[in-house]
Amino acid sequence: MPKQIEHVIQDIEDRSALDAVSGKAAALVNRVTQPTAVKNALSGVWLGHALHPVLTDIPIGAWGMATLLDLTAGERGARAARRLVGFGLLAVVPTAATGASDWADTIGPTQRLGLVHGMLNSAATVLQAASWVSRLTGRRRAGVVLSGVGLGLTGASAYLGGHLSYVNGVGVNHTAFEEPTGKWTDVAALTALVEDKPLRVDAGGVPVVLVRHGGAVKALSATCTHAGGPLDEGKVDADGCIHCPWHGSAFRLSDGEVTRGPATVAQPDWDVKISQDRVLVRAANA
Ligand code: FES
Repeated sequence: MPKQIEHVIQDIEDRSALDAVSGKAAALVNRVTQPTAVKNALSGVWLGHALHPVLTDIPIGAWGMATLLDLTAGERGARAARRLVGFGLLAVVPTAATGASDWADTIGPTQRLGLVHGMLNSAATVLQAASWVSRLTGRRRAGVVLSGVGLGLTGASAYLGGHLSYVNGVGVNHTAFEEPTGKWTDVAALTALVEDKPLRVDAGGVPVVLVRHGGAVKALSATCTHAGGPLDEGKVDADGCIHCPWHGSAFRLSDGEVTRGPATVAQPDWDVKISQDRVLVRAANA
């Protein structure tokens, strides 16, 4: 990354004065997204993949094409360009909602950078809305300029969004680089397990959480796929799900499937067998 950009990003991440705004905004978003159906819809649980990065392509693509038409088709492309600007504005609504939901689960420097990402996107949206109105009221030239500036802000914001994902790891499956063993591995004494009390063990270098539930022993990877929270410090509910202590994602003990976001990737599950009062695990489907 060019040094100047690195300094700008570092400066934003260090700016603790942003916390006063971001803390309140994140608390508000978390209240709105508290219902499981809302959180699951916005996170992308139903898709099995984070939804926000999928949606961002729509307004960026629409506004990019509008500017391309402005630059290459002139008056001939005016109507199509206006429609593209309008379509991008419609697509911003779900895109911003999913982004806000993801952002509210971040903390510290990442949350500050995410706040600036959202502010740039908001400014870009205002410019595109002004552009759409200008185009509709016959001031095409002003609309073209407003769209161009808006697209520039969107590009800067997209850079920060990429940094949030690829450098800070927001939205990345935190078990992606684990290498679960396919060999049966002795990890604990059966007597160490208390009903519905998670126990963290090590299976060939991979942290695993064991839970005795309804008499059976279940095992999942202990590192939450969402952001790396310790599932062994979470709670087990009566439905046989374990809840991450960090952001409340819930995973079915029987197969690791997500029952509540923000996690969208299932928790890796492990086969369990009991032999001579010892608990042995191996990666499922190994
Ligand atoms: S780390 Fe976010 S829900 Fe587990």
